[in-house]
Amino acid sequence: MCAALIGTGLGAGVQAEAAQPAAKPLNPNKILNIAHRGASGHAPEHTLSAYELGQRMKGDYIEIDLQMTKDGRLIAMHDETLDRTTNGTGPVKDHTLKEIKKLDAGSWFNKKYPESAKDEYAGLEVPTLEEVIQKFGRNARYYIETKSPEVYPKMEERLLQILKKYKLTGPSVHSNKVIIQSFSPESLKIIHRLDPGIPLVQLLWYDGPAAVSDDELEAYQSYSVGLGMNFDQIDRAYVQKVRKHGLLVHPYTVNEKEDMQRLLDWGVTGMFTNFPDRLHKVLNENK
Ligand code: G3P
Ligand code: CA
Repeated sequence: MCAALIGTGLGAGVQAEAAQPAAKPLNPNKILNIAHRGASGHAPEHTLSAYELGQRMKGDYIEIDLQMTKDGRLIAMHDETLDRTTNGTGPVKDHTLKEIKKLDAGSWFNKKYPESAKDEYAGLEVPTLEEVIQKFGRNARYYIETKSPEVYPKMEERLLQILKKYKLTGPSVHSNKVIIQSFSPESLKIIHRLDPGIPLVQLLWYDGPAAVSDDELEAYQSYSVGLGMNFDQIDRAYVQKVRKHGLLVHPYTVNEKEDMQRLLDWGVTGMFTNFPDRLHKVLNENK
């Protein structure tokens, strides 16, 4: 279950920013294959193995969820707690990186998915964001989510420091090298204030048929280049309305070919998938 921006309510915190240079628009005609937590249908999520496989399977972006350790290090992990995807337990924020580095982030996958299990997955480490960037470098593209930013003060500043250190952001960098996403408009607005050149995607969760007003779309447009939402509540009219406002549409998490094809027919501009190999095939069939 995803964190937090429920429905379409933006809350009082979302107002148009003062005029600032905006992120360069991404080409909406290039349909993005976003390897969700890496190729996490084939390998343990948020491990270097899953990211490597995502790249080999022609994912355009490595999707990375961020949590922050007790000593302020950004790590790739979906949950706020260690329990589901490692042999550790308790909140990430209560553990140092040194402690987390001792954990096994792969064996859970072998147990849960014996049909995809591999010996090499046992004992995989939880990677830091820096380790991911060091491994894949500036030739890869990263779609990074600030998870639970309310739990991690200054998470955004730390993230931007790292992106700057590795020259993944800045005026001379191609604008689509990094996309930052969040369910938290507040987190995205902090990033937008700090570096308005980074393309941002507002994540949404709909627990009923998706709907969005013109006013909401205008507010989203003031700081983001697109929206990401659970795919199972949207329809063609929703997709086209968002597209008409010039926003990208990146539904998550789309794993079946029939769903991929339907969403492409409706005009989405990319999607998150645990199976980038499947999406690559569907995209090729549409050429
Ligand atoms: O970031 C898109 C999608 O990943 C959001 O859901 O819970 O998988 O991070 P979640
Ligand atoms: Ca995510």
